Amino acid sequence: MRKRILTGDRPTGKMHLGHYVGSLKNRVKLQDSYDQFVMIADVQALTDNFDNPQKVRDNIKEVLLDYLAVGIDPKKTTILIQSMIPEIAELTVFYLNLVTLERVLRNPTVKDEIKQKGFGQSLPAGFAMYPVSQAADITVFNADLVPVGEDQLPMVEQTREIVRKFNSLYGETFVEPKPLLGDVKRLPGIDGNAKMGKSLGNAIYLSDSEDELKKKVMRMYTDPTRIHPTDPGKVEGNPVFVYHEIFNPNKTEVEDLKMRYREGKVGDIEVKEKLFVALNAFLTPIREKRHEFEGKDELLNQILTEGTAKAREVAGETMKKVKRAMKIDYIR
Ligand code: TRP
Repeated sequence: MRKRILTGDRPTGKMHLGHYVGSLKNRVKLQDSYDQFVMIADVQALTDNFDNPQKVRDNIKEVLLDYLAVGIDPKKTTILIQSMIPEIAELTVFYLNLVTLERVLRNPTVKDEIKQKGFGQSLPAGFAMYPVSQAADITVFNADLVPVGEDQLPMVEQTREIVRKFNSLYGETFVEPKPLLGDVKRLPGIDGNAKMGKSLGNAIYLSDSEDELKKKVMRMYTDPTRIHPTDPGKVEGNPVFVYHEIFNPNKTEVEDLKMRYREGKVGDIEVKEKLFVALNAFLTPIREKRHEFEGKDELLNQILTEGTAKAREVAGETMKKVKRAMKIDYIR
C-alpha cells in the first residue's frame, strides 16, 4: 500500500510563487510515489469570508487551474472540494471534544491571523476552531504526509496532538501525520517583506502575464542603502538575489551578478532584467498549461466530481472506523 498525502489550499485567491516553492513543487514530485489527495478548502475559506461566498466560489476554479498548470495530474492526484465531504464536518465535531479552547487560541498561526485580520472582539468561533477542522481534513484520509508551507506547521502539530488523544482514548485508529516543507522555507514578497502573501499585496502569481511580471520585477525591493549602481551592494537577504538563487538556473550568471553587485559594478536594472528573463522562462510553461485548461468547464467539473467521489469513499470508510472506536456505531 502506498503512503498517503493530504494537503490543500483555501480558495481565496490565485496561487503565487511562495505556494509553488513551499508546497506545490513537492506535490508534483510526490504524486508518482504517494496516494495523494489535494483539497480545495472552501469551508476553511468561509471561516473568514462567510460574508463573501462569491469570492470563495470564484476562486475554486482559479485554484484548480493553478494546480493543473503546475502539473498536478488528476490521473495521479485526487483533487476534491472540502464542503463536498460532509464526513470532515462530522469528524470536526468529535474532535472539538478533544481540544481545549485555550489550546486552539494558543495556535501561533491562528493568533497571527486574528491580529492581521483585526477581528478584535468579534472573532468568529468557526475561525478560531479551523485548526481542528484542518485536523479532520488530514485524518479523514489517514494521511501520512502533509506538504505545506512553514506557516502551517502549527496545524500539523495540533493534528498530531488530536490523533494521540483520539488513539489513547478510543484505540489506535489514526496515524500521526508528518509535515513536509519545501526546500525554500519562506519566499520574501516583492516588497522585501519576509513572506509573500495574497493579503499582503506583494505576490507574483503563477498566472501573472508577462507584462505584470515585468512590472513587478522592475519595482522589486533591493538593497535600500544602495543609491548609485557604483555603490557596493548587499546580496544577502536582498530579495532580487533570493529569487535569482531559486529561479535562475544559470548559476554562472547569478554568481557573476552577485560579484559585480558587491563591487558596485552592476546596476539594479540589469539584475532585475535578468531576473525577469529567468522568472518568465519558469512561468511560461505554467501559463501555457493554464490556458490549455481555461474555459474547459466540463473537463474541470469532471475532475472535481471524480476526485470528490473517490475522496468520499475513503472518508466514509474512515468514519465507520471512527464510530466503531467511539462506540457510536449503534445499529450495524
Ligand atoms: N490552512 C491551509 C492554508 O491556509 C489550507 C488547508 C486546509 C490545508 N486544510 C488543509 C493544508 C489540510 C494542509 C492540510 O493554506
